[in-house]
Amino acid sequence: MAEETHFGFSRLPLTDKQARVDAVFHKVASRYDLMNDLMSGGLHRIWKDIFVGRVKPSRKSRFRHLDVAGGTGDIAFRVAKAGSPLTEVVVLDINAAMLEEGRRRARAAKRDFAAAFDFVEANAEELPFADDSFDAYTIGFGIRNVPRIDKALAEARRVLRRGGKFLCLEFSNVNVPVLDRLYEAYSFRVIPVIGRLVAGDGKPYRYLVESIARFPDAESFCGKIAGAGFERASFTRLSGGIVAIHSGWKL
Ligand SMILES: C[S@@+](CC[C@H](N)C(=O)[O-])C[C@H]1O[C@@H](n2cnc3c(N)ncnc32)[C@H](O)[C@@H]1O
Repeated sequence: MAEETHFGFSRLPLTDKQARVDAVFHKVASRYDLMNDLMSGGLHRIWKDIFVGRVKPSRKSRFRHLDVAGGTGDIAFRVAKAGSPLTEVVVLDINAAMLEEGRRRARAAKRDFAAAFDFVEANAEELPFADDSFDAYTIGFGIRNVPRIDKALAEARRVLRRGGKFLCLEFSNVNVPVLDRLYEAYSFRVIPVIGRLVAGDGKPYRYLVESIARFPDAESFCGKIAGAGFERASFTRLSGGIVAIHSGWKL
C-alpha cells in the first residue's frame, strides 16, 4: 500500500501532498503578506525579527545564507539587511507564485540592503546546491508544509558547511493554560473567516490551521533535528509556545 501522510486533518498518499500544498500557496500568494499581518495582529514581524537576530551574518567576510521555503522573502530581506555587501542570500521556494511576489518586493526594497540576492525555484527535499556551501540555513513557517521533513533536514545538513547553523521558525504547541483554549478557538473559528472575507476563500486557511495543529510539539521536533545529525539541537518558545525557534549546528 502507498505510504500515507496528512494534509491538514485529512489523510492522503504521501506523493499527493506537495501538489495540494502548492495549490494552497498559489491561491494565497497575492494576499499572503496582508493575511500574515491580519491573522497574527502583526506578531509575525516580531517573531521574524527575533528569529533573524539569531543568524548574525558576518560583516567582515563572505557569508552565504540559504532561506528555504522563503516565499515572499520576509526572512531573507531581514538577513540581507543585517548583512553587508559580502552577504549573499538565496531565497528558495517550490512555488513560482510566492517567488514572484518575493521578486516584486525585492525590486521595491533594493535600496534597503547591499547584499546580493537570488531566487531559486526548487524543493527543500532536493536542494540544487553543492555539499558544504552555506554558512547558515533558515526555514520560516515552511517545514510543516514539506511532505518528507526528514529528507529536508538531511538536505539542510548536507548543504551547510562545518560550523554552519540551522534555524527553523515554526508554529508549535501552546503550553500556557487558558491561552491554549483561546488560541485554538481563534485558529479554527476566526482565521478561516478572515480568509473568506479578505482573500475570498476560507479553505486554504483551514489547511494552514489544521497543519499547525498536526505539527509535532517542540520537544519531538527537536528530537528530529538531533536525529538528522545536528549538534546542540535546542529550541526557544515564543508567545507562550504559539511559535518556536529550533536550532542546531553542523559540527
Ligand atoms: C507559510 S509560507 C512561509 C513563507 C516565508 N518563509 C515566511 O515566513 O513568510 C510556506 C512556504 O513554503 C513553501 N513550500 C512548501 N513546500 C515546499 C517544499 N517542499 N520546498 C520548498 N518550499 C516549499 C510554500 O510554497 C510557501 O511559500
